[in-house]
Amino acid sequence: MPDAQVKSEDKAKDFFVDVPFETPGFFLKGSAHLDWGMKNRLARVFDPKDGRTVMLAFDHGYIMGPTSGIERMDLAIPPLIPHVDCLMCTRGALKTCIPPEVNKPVVLRSSAGATILKELSNEVIGVTLEDALRFNAAAVTCQCYVGGPFEKESLANLCHLVNEGNRYGVPTLGVTAVGRELVRDARYLGLAGRVIAELGAHFNKTYYCEPGFDEVVAGTPIPVVIAGGKKLPEAEALAMAYKAIDQGAVGVDMGRNIFLADSPPAMAAAIRAVVHDGLKPDKAFQMYNDLKGAKK
Ligand code: R5P
Repeated sequence: MPDAQVKSEDKAKDFFVDVPFETPGFFLKGSAHLDWGMKNRLARVFDPKDGRTVMLAFDHGYIMGPTSGIERMDLAIPPLIPHVDCLMCTRGALKTCIPPEVNKPVVLRSSAGATILKELSNEVIGVTLEDALRFNAAAVTCQCYVGGPFEKESLANLCHLVNEGNRYGVPTLGVTAVGRELVRDARYLGLAGRVIAELGAHFNKTYYCEPGFDEVVAGTPIPVVIAGGKKLPEAEALAMAYKAIDQGAVGVDMGRNIFLADSPPAMAAAIRAVVHDGLKPDKAFQMYNDLKGAKK
């Protein structure tokens, strides 16, 4: 699309950010017309009491190998599980490092085929829906590289998961995966989130941005959660989570900003308080420091 056309359209955009998105019949945005199995699985990922979720992302190894903080998933992850609502990981992590007695829903990383050594957007779907169900997945997920070198293939991966998931009542999380050359601004994230929703994903993981995150959420007619991204100082990560929730996100799917914190369990608990209790960033940072100190 010519840039001039994009600009002229931008002038006409109105996201009505002050008008709530009605969710008749079910507590999650855009999910009222799903069938029982889909709703039931989504109600495991998102707490029906407040419609929010703290997802713990530790799928980084599928592209990055033994990522700092989760070199030993068997040691790093179990202490965090009581503080989160949901696990987001690969089937390899589940079957090797997570006790099956853990009764938390799993969003299963189902894309594969790329590593940091090559082009990240060049993925396929590596997990069948049958295997996802064997792992008792509450949802499946893949990266969506809108604007990336393998944009079409990654969006075809999303469509494949949605089509297969629809057969079995398994929702799909579409992850906005920003290529190295792209900017994480509201215009890009809004475009990606909207494409992901229109292709049938049931929820979207994106990044927080300033300004305009509220417009990213308003233009994406499915629930939106944020990734944490690169490690930030704990106070900044808590403030980012607070601002995202305040502007319409319904949770986080956070990895490095939890498992690379000085005290990962304290950080998971503080993030939980921000997401579910609306704790302000300064109080959440105080809580983090108190919990961190208590564990010494
Ligand atoms: C990326 O490879 C994965 O989708 C991660 O799950 C995602 O980036 C969230 O992790 P973090 O909060 O560390 O960015």
